Amino acid sequence: MIPTPDLSHLTADDYDCVYEPAEDTFLLLDALEADEQELKQLRPRITLEIGSGSGCVSAFIAKILGPSVLYLCTDINPHACRCTLSTGVQNKVALDPINVTFAAPLSLRLKRSVDVILFNPPYVPTIPDEASGAQDARGIAGAWAGGVDGMNVTDVFLERVEDLMSDRGRFYLVAIAENDVPGIQERMLRLHGLQSDIILSRRAGREHLFVLRFVRDLSRVCS
Ligand SMILES: C[S@@+](CC[C@H](N)C(=O)[O-])C[C@H]1O[C@@H](n2cnc3c(N)ncnc32)[C@H](O)[C@@H]1O
Repeated sequence: MIPTPDLSHLTADDYDCVYEPAEDTFLLLDALEADEQELKQLRPRITLEIGSGSGCVSAFIAKILGPSVLYLCTDINPHACRCTLSTGVQNKVALDPINVTFAAPLSLRLKRSVDVILFNPPYVPTIPDEASGAQDARGIAGAWAGGVDGMNVTDVFLERVEDLMSDRGRFYLVAIAENDVPGIQERMLRLHGLQSDIILSRRAGREHLFVLRFVRDLSRVCS
């Protein structure tokens, strides 16, 4: 069993402005742990977490994969980037946080070269203005405000993710039932040639959480 990263250096003040790991975070950790052997066999060179928050998820995958991998972590919230950096130090893994939206300034350099992509997005349905306001404010509301169907922020990244994935790359996404998981899967296959499986799901209070894993649909590449 891989231990949950040590977050004892983070305080209540940090969690006033940065997402505190919760059931969604832990579901993603459980999904990565279940894929531990496959992830190691992939021998990744680059991982990228979008919205790293406290840094808990990236520190966890860094424990699985070891020091030879580059762990890029982005977040729109500058305080989250500071927390991610300190979580790396606390857990003796080298995390590289970057304070940008999605992977925007890196996308050309990273084209088809990221082996593992992780995103636990702001998935809560809100009015669209709330999501766009939260993106602009770059604070704690950006951790959850997702706009229509909770998909306004996630949808922007879903348009870009295939371009970042290496040939053998995989993408792990957290979603809730209100996001229309079958609809996400159908669209990603039809529009981007990414085949997906629900690899874990769990009820947590009112939320029905899912972790989706996307890979290239090899039947399309070969045909
Ligand atoms: C639900 S929290 C997840 C935090 C952490 N990954 C975890 O699982 O505990 C979503 C994170 O995404 C960040 N975020 C929201 N919109 C973003 C964007 N456009 N680009 C990068 N990060 C974003 C938020 O600031 C927040 O840290």
